[in-house]
Amino acid sequence: MIRLSLIILFVVDTCYSDAVIVTIDWNDITHTSNTSLTLLVVENPLLRRESPIHDTVFQSLNQLQTDYTRFLTWYPYPRLAVAELEPPSGLSQCKNVPYLSNLTLTCALSGGRINKIEFASFGTPTGTCGNYTIGQCHSNKTMSVIRKLCLFRRICTVYVTNDLFDGDPCPGMNKRLAVQITCYPPQNNTYWDFTTLDPLVEDFLNATQGHSSIIDFSTQPRWLYTLPAIDQYPDSDDQVDWNYPAGIELIDKTGQQIGDYYGRLAAWYTKGGFIDEYGRKHVSNHYYNISIWEVLNEVDFEHWNGIEQYTLIYDSVVESVRKMVDPEQNIKFVGLSLGNPSEFTKFSYFLNSSNHRPNIPLDWISYHFYAFPTSRTDPRTYEQFFPQTDVFVEKVKNIETIRRALSPLTRTTINELGVILPDDNNPNAEAIPLIYWNAAAAAFAYIFCQLAPLGIDVIGSSQLVGYPQLSVLGGLSPQFPSVALLDWNTGIGNARYWTLTLLHSHFQAGSKAVRTDVSGVAQPRIYAQAWVCNQQKHKLLLINTKFGEVNVTIENSAGSIAWIVDKFSNESGARSLRMSSDTLLITEYAVVVIELVLPPSITFKTYLSILYILWFDENSFIVAAALILLFMIYYKKS
Ligand SMILES: *[C@@H]1O[C@H](CO)[C@@H](O)[C@H](O)[C@H]1NC(C)=O
Ligand SMILES: *[C@@H]1O[C@H](CO)[C@@H](O)[C@H](O)[C@H]1NC(C)=O
Ligand SMILES: *[C@@H]1O[C@H](CO)[C@@H](O)[C@H](O)[C@H]1NC(C)=O
Ligand SMILES: *[C@@H]1O[C@H](CO)[C@@H](O)[C@H](O)[C@H]1NC(C)=O
Ligand SMILES: *[C@@H]1O[C@H](CO)[C@@H](O)[C@H](O)[C@H]1NC(C)=O
Ligand SMILES: *[C@@H]1O[C@H](CO)[C@@H](O)[C@H](O)[C@H]1NC(C)=O
Ligand SMILES: *[C@@H]1O[C@H](CO)[C@@H](O)[C@H](O)[C@H]1NC(C)=O
Ligand SMILES: *[C@@H]1O[C@H](CO)[C@@H](O)[C@H](O)[C@H]1NC(C)=O
Ligand SMILES: *[C@@H]1O[C@H](CO)[C@@H](O)[C@H](O)[C@H]1NC(C)=O
Ligand SMILES: *[C@@H]1O[C@H](CO)[C@@H](O)[C@H](O)[C@H]1NC(C)=O
Repeated sequence: MIRLSLIILFVVDTCYSDAVIVTIDWNDITHTSNTSLTLLVVENPLLRRESPIHDTVFQSLNQLQTDYTRFLTWYPYPRLAVAELEPPSGLSQCKNVPYLSNLTLTCALSGGRINKIEFASFGTPTGTCGNYTIGQCHSNKTMSVIRKLCLFRRICTVYVTNDLFDGDPCPGMNKRLAVQITCYPPQNNTYWDFTTLDPLVEDFLNATQGHSSIIDFSTQPRWLYTLPAIDQYPDSDDQVDWNYPAGIELIDKTGQQIGDYYGRLAAWYTKGGFIDEYGRKHVSNHYYNISIWEVLNEVDFEHWNGIEQYTLIYDSVVESVRKMVDPEQNIKFVGLSLGNPSEFTKFSYFLNSSNHRPNIPLDWISYHFYAFPTSRTDPRTYEQFFPQTDVFVEKVKNIETIRRALSPLTRTTINELGVILPDDNNPNAEAIPLIYWNAAAAAFAYIFCQLAPLGIDVIGSSQLVGYPQLSVLGGLSPQFPSVALLDWNTGIGNARYWTLTLLHSHFQAGSKAVRTDVSGVAQPRIYAQAWVCNQQKHKLLLINTKFGEVNVTIENSAGSIAWIVDKFSNESGARSLRMSSDTLLITEYAVVVIELVLPPSITFKTYLSILYILWFDENSFIVAAALILLFMIYYKKS
């Protein structure tokens, strides 16, 4: 009778014919992870202090406690990304503002007065400082009005209305006022302005305090390039401009001018200020510790003029930053940040030090991957993330071959990983189904498992907060909502954020992956990887790569704690449960971490052999059976 119940117990405990079975060999270490998990923070209006979710966004960032967190000033909001939107204009000074705003001119720097109005047009003036021309619409009152308000004054402020110019010169058209003056005594003019950038940088560095970060002021002033005819960039901080990066050929082909722009930015944030193009000092009082500096972003999409020009810019930026702020050469540099897989072969140029100037470091390289499903709303198509990842991983292997051959000490940060849904920036796009966030989270967990064995140093989830069309801040147009890690209405994490939290807290660099096999009829649905982590903790990561649920059986897992990010977990993060048997139902696109409490030495095999011996030794059977039962009960409880 006891014999029979032992058999039944054994059968019930281990056999589920329709389940996926995970078997782990804890003694067979396949690799040790050298991968730090982190994320990308792209500056945008929701990160401004005026944003209704500013505080929660930065609290959510702070809670992650990640290293190598990447801060990127990206181009769609030029006013939040570029510190010198207008080129230095020598002895002329210009201002160009829209209807119903203030235009201010001042000769305070030379302690002088406005002595000449070189140009003034209310209407549709075009061109840039030094080269303004009257457009199709022009009020011929402009010059006399501006002379009256500004000439011989130290400072003048003009509020632009139709009335000021005796009526509307062209009803129905968007009008601006452009004015060009000189001062006496003469004064050279630049347009450095950090008022929108400073709070973003400050809040980011504060939220990531105590950890390393990677700073990338990626958006270059476009006046560094030979420009085609272009529109004025937006007047509002929160207005998007997808066309800002125009031009591909540098005006200063030596790279000095673009290098110095970045050298001055570095000095503003790390050395308390800088000396501008005309020798004038600008004081910031910022002395931040920037230890890793990335040079530009996705150059293969913006201003792309071949790898040779990028390499020249990289060298120039490194030299200027070192000269202006880092003569001890402590700052590490990250190169390329490529986004376009068809350009990935360019690493063989960049990583060859003979293509660089002498003494240019190749500390880090970076590149990106996004999955693109065919449907925005059909959750079954999210299964495409996983085979697409496999294709990317093959490209990573090729880049690794190049890196190891040319520059083996160069480290790698794959600093944008995510999914972009079709139609993402269409204001009328359909809402994103909730299960999407689980699927994208599962894809990130899967990518981590694929990249860790390759020895990739850092992988970064893209990106903190994007959004669809929103009514806050006077109305925001969509900004890649499907890459968001936070809920754009609350600033609280979604499933992608909580999965990053889960992985980051359990699988630090140094975790040892062990041989993990998955079998059963329902394969290949479940991806499984077991790890021996900090403090010899035994953990199993399970990822459901399909839009369907499945039972997973793991030997010796009854009584273990499982942390689960799935369709049932919520904005509080992974839900946790204690497993009541060796089998756990894993819902579609769930990510699960189980901390296994293993019997110290008695493995399943020895348990079987003891059973076998006892079976044929009638005398000791009853005592031993009782002992085994006690033993099993003990381990299920603990
Ligand atoms: C324009 O300047 C005046 C005086 O400095 C100020 O009162 C007003 O608020 C400003 N208007 C705008 C739209 O900035
Ligand atoms: C103005 O335009 C002329 C001719 O297009 C050009 O040579 C000159 O460099 C421009 N000046 C400025 C300040 O942009
Ligand atoms: C200014 O324009 C108005 C009509 O657009 C015209 O009648 C007037 O003669 C012009 N004045 C001068 C000084 O050009
Ligand atoms: C303006 O800058 C130029 C060089 O860029 C310099 O030669 C000139 O002396 C400066 N003038 C003043 C008044 O600062
Ligand atoms: C810096 O961060 C801490 C913790 O997140 C926060 O309490 C504090 O207000 C922040 N300071 C500033 C100036 O943002
Ligand atoms: C700057 O930050 C880096 C990385 O976080 C750290 O290693 C270094 O000690 C810091 N330097 C100073 C002067 O605080
Ligand atoms: C590195 O670049 C140099 C100069 O372009 C070239 O001669 C050399 O073959 C390259 N080395 C490798 C290993 O590709
Ligand atoms: C990866 O390994 C290299 C060399 O062993 C080490 O310098 C680096 O710090 C490691 N990376 C991480 C993210 O720990
Ligand atoms: C999982 O196992 C439970 C209990 O045996 C069973 O009721 C359920 O149908 C199974 N689900 C799947 C998807 O196999
Ligand atoms: C979220 O889940 C946690 C744990 O499962 C639970 O304690 C909490 O009440 C839930 N919160 C909401 C708002 O549903």
